[in-house]
Amino acid sequence: MTRPSALDDSAYLLAARGERVPHTPVWFMRQAGRALPEYRAVREGISMLESCMRPDLVVEITLQPVRRYGVDAAIFYSDIVLPLKAAGFDIEIKPGVGPVVADPIRDAAGLARVRPVTPADVSFTTESVQQLVSELGGTPLIGFAGAPFTVASYLVEGGPSKDFAKTKAMMHGDPALWHALADRLADVAIAYLAVQVEAGASAIQLFDSWAGGLSPRDYERFVLPHSAKVFDAMAGYGVPRVHFGVNTGELLGLMSEVGADVVGVDWRVPLDEAVRRITAAGGAPKPVQGNLDPALLFAGWDAIEPEIDRILAEGRAAPGHIFNLGHGVPPDADPEVLRRITKYVQAAHVPA
Ligand code: CP3
Repeated sequence: MTRPSALDDSAYLLAARGERVPHTPVWFMRQAGRALPEYRAVREGISMLESCMRPDLVVEITLQPVRRYGVDAAIFYSDIVLPLKAAGFDIEIKPGVGPVVADPIRDAAGLARVRPVTPADVSFTTESVQQLVSELGGTPLIGFAGAPFTVASYLVEGGPSKDFAKTKAMMHGDPALWHALADRLADVAIAYLAVQVEAGASAIQLFDSWAGGLSPRDYERFVLPHSAKVFDAMAGYGVPRVHFGVNTGELLGLMSEVGADVVGVDWRVPLDEAVRRITAAGGAPKPVQGNLDPALLFAGWDAIEPEIDRILAEGRAAPGHIFNLGHGVPPDADPEVLRRITKYVQAAHVPA
């Protein structure tokens, strides 16, 4: 697929490929959402998953943070559980809680309820992405999906979890069931990502937000093969593949090895140390994304500015750096602070 050159020369895509950038690109995970009054206004009276299926709302909500902050990338407004919902799985997003499943998956009959996702199931996604790409012009659109482990954790636990006890019990107690479920969820992620890239998304991000709850040993045995399947399937599209999770300091090497082109880092590990961990097993250094602690958004500019300077300096250890928070924008964040961070990062000096 040929893409407009303005996109290829965008700071986000240059950094993701480890090429020279005009400035360090910046965007924010969960940049679309409740921190924006214009988001709350559009969403009034419409459920989260319903809003994800309406192209007019998806386009508007995706563009809102681009307009307000002038960030270097847009992220498609959707959710990690949306493709399952579109394929008929009974799942909701409870405001203030997250995804909830009334009848969690615990056996083969539960597994049978997870159907493959076809492009026809998510035709509204194709329509939304096509319209967004034409409206965004030179700003790249990031497509995304939930990684098999993080999505499975909601399906098996029935909702958000702190310890993933039932998910880990399935992994170790019935590995065949676990691997069958994770394999099916890898196919769901591949189908959803392919639809977004074929409609014009410039990059993809695989969110394994909760992988940090696993030991490296369990990650390698129960998760890595399934996430690797997703990255392998997306390799042929030629778009940068980003991988992110929270609390993944012990997993950075494995999460890079799995096939990511760019490694997302939360705030716990400095970016230069992250590069050391990514290359520890002998692999090549990779561009990184991150990693301002979202809590700092509430600390005042005098505290934020030196943190940005530190992160930009540490990011120079990598062949490319995409500035972001270490996790998503909290719903009570002040949009003015995010706007100021955007402008500050974009104006910062990038040494030759
Ligand atoms: O701006 C963006 O980042 C794009 C859209 C996006 C959403 N969810 C919208 C959303 C993306 C990329 C996601 C991914 C997602 N969803 C992840 C991975 C990223 C991460 O934050 O770790 C996860 C774990 C989910 C599951 C999920 N969906 C959670 C935990 C929540 C929050 C629940 C709450 O109310 O606090 C959701 C709901 C959700 N997804 C909202 C948004 C804007 C809030 C819903 C609302 O406005 O009512």
